[in-house]
Amino acid sequence: AIERTLSIIKPDATKRNLTGKIVAKFEEAGLRVVASKRIHLSPAQAGQFYAEHAERPFYGELCAFMASEPVVVQVLEGEGAIAKNREVMGATDPAAAAEGTIRKEFALSKGENSVHGSDSEASAAREIAFFFSGLELVG
Ligand code: CMP
Repeated sequence: AIERTLSIIKPDATKRNLTGKIVAKFEEAGLRVVASKRIHLSPAQAGQFYAEHAERPFYGELCAFMASEPVVVQVLEGEGAIAKNREVMGATDPAAAAEGTIRKEFALSKGENSVHGSDSEASAAREIAFFFSGLELVG
């Protein structure tokens, strides 16, 4: 089915000028950018976005990192977009990520791992609505 998923190009990547290279990987995999903006999250906004991780030991570090530099938030659309996006990103830990994936090529660590992608249909719906209004989604 044609799906939409929420992608974030994280601070470690925007800082190193990797936005274009990362978007190219998604586009080459058949995903289409149907919404896109560059924003600088506050720590509180990052905390709200990652609320499901609030009990994890790395939560504070994660929120501070996500608010440290601008991010690029995008909605990607395509056949099986949620799984395809995760395939192109690679494993959370770059040391475990497959050759050719974004995290294998660009990620610095488990935390500074260059990209975020929704992990399920329910997360995608919540995360897209967190950043975008319906009017901003241009399929
Ligand atoms: P993401 O897909 O954005 O969702 C939660 C994030 O938590 C995850 O990517 C990682 O970047 C981050 N994360 C997971 N494990 C760790 C860890 N051990 N230390 C720091 N950050 C982590």
